[in-house]
Parts: sequence; C-alpha cells; structure tokens
Amino acid sequence: MIHIFQKGTNLSAPVLLLLHGTGGTEHDLLPLGQLISPESSVLSVRGNVLENGMSRFFRRLAEGVFDEEDLVFRTGELSNFLDRAAAQYEFDRRNIVAVGYSNGANIAASLLFHYEDALRGAILHHPMVPRRGIELPPQRELPVFISAGHNDPICPAQETLDLEALLIGAGAHVHTHWEYHGHQLTRSEVDAAAAWFGKQFLHK
Ligand code: MLT
Repeated sequence: MIHIFQKGTNLSAPVLLLLHGTGGTEHDLLPLGQLISPESSVLSVRGNVLENGMSRFFRRLAEGVFDEEDLVFRTGELSNFLDRAAAQYEFDRRNIVAVGYSNGANIAASLLFHYEDALRGAILHHPMVPRRGIELPPQRELPVFISAGHNDPICPAQETLDLEALLIGAGAHVHTHWEYHGHQLTRSEVDAAAAWFGKQFLHK
C-alpha cells in the first residue's frame, strides 16, 4: 500500500496509523499525528480503492452503503500490510493506535470488527458501523475514542450510538466526544482526542 513512515523520538509510544477520509491521501492527517502525539512514529496509508479518482479504503455501493465483500477483503489487506510494515520498520506490531477520519475511521473500526489483536487503541473521527450482523472478536479493555456530530448528515447520531454499543459489547472502553459541526473534522475534537491519547498511552 502507498504510505509514509516517519520514525518518532519516543519508540515506546504507540505508532499512529493514519487513515484519511474519502478523496484524501497519506499526507492529509500528518498534522493530526503531530497534534495527537508528536513523539510517536507515524504510518500514514493511502486507501487502495479509487472512486471517481478519489482514494478510499474500500468500495461502497452508494453513500453510506458499503460493499461488504470488498470491505472484508480490504480490511484483511490492511491487516497484512500492518504485519509487513512492523517487520520492515522494526516497530512493535502490538503497539499501533489507529487515527482515522470518516472512510479511514470506518476501515479502522472494521479492523476491530474482524481481528482480535489488530490495534492497541483507536481514535475514530466520524465513524459509521462498518458491518452489521456479525459477532465482534473480543476487544477487552481496548481504548477507543469516537468523535461525532449530533447533526452529522453522513454519520447520523444513532449510527454512533450503535457503534459505541457494539464495541462496548466486545469489551472495549469507549469514550465518545460530541459536537454540532456536522461531518467536519474540527480542531476541538482533535484537541479532545489528543488529551484522551495523552492520558491513555503517555500517562499525561
Ligand atoms: C464511507 O463511505 O466510508 C462513509 O460514507 C464516509 C465517507 O464519505 O467516506
């Protein structure tokens, strides 16, 4: 997968896996990584699927209607890529925290829906339920931060509540941050994610 790896100054801090929104690139969320954990190594990945020239992490049939077969395939592809990247860049595979926005948050959530040890934690900005009707693997005490908009037209509030419930049902510790700025990724939600990350992983 096309990606950027930047080695951090604190090699015991979690590696941030940055996953952009529809139409983004591996460059988009680099400033977010800096705000969340400037000392962390960063692995920023570009989605492998193109929709009218826009990069995504999996195909969709319509707005909010996912191609499940492709979702499962692409989730496996990303998971395998993480195994290879950890070996290539010599970081601990078990020390990855995903930071995703929109379509990137959805593939990060999909990792948690399909694999038990995919991530050490996740920051999901405006995620949806990636897939319904499956049993999640155990995600015991996995720290998850969700940010959502009460008035998000792409991820309705109920979708956030459903995702929260499914992750909690699998054992995750979920913190949800609500705003009123639609589907926008705001500075205040990133600041909230950074504060949460500091407490969870850097003991700040
Ligand atoms: C998706 O397709 O993953 C969601 O609808 C969000 C987006 O527009 O990327």
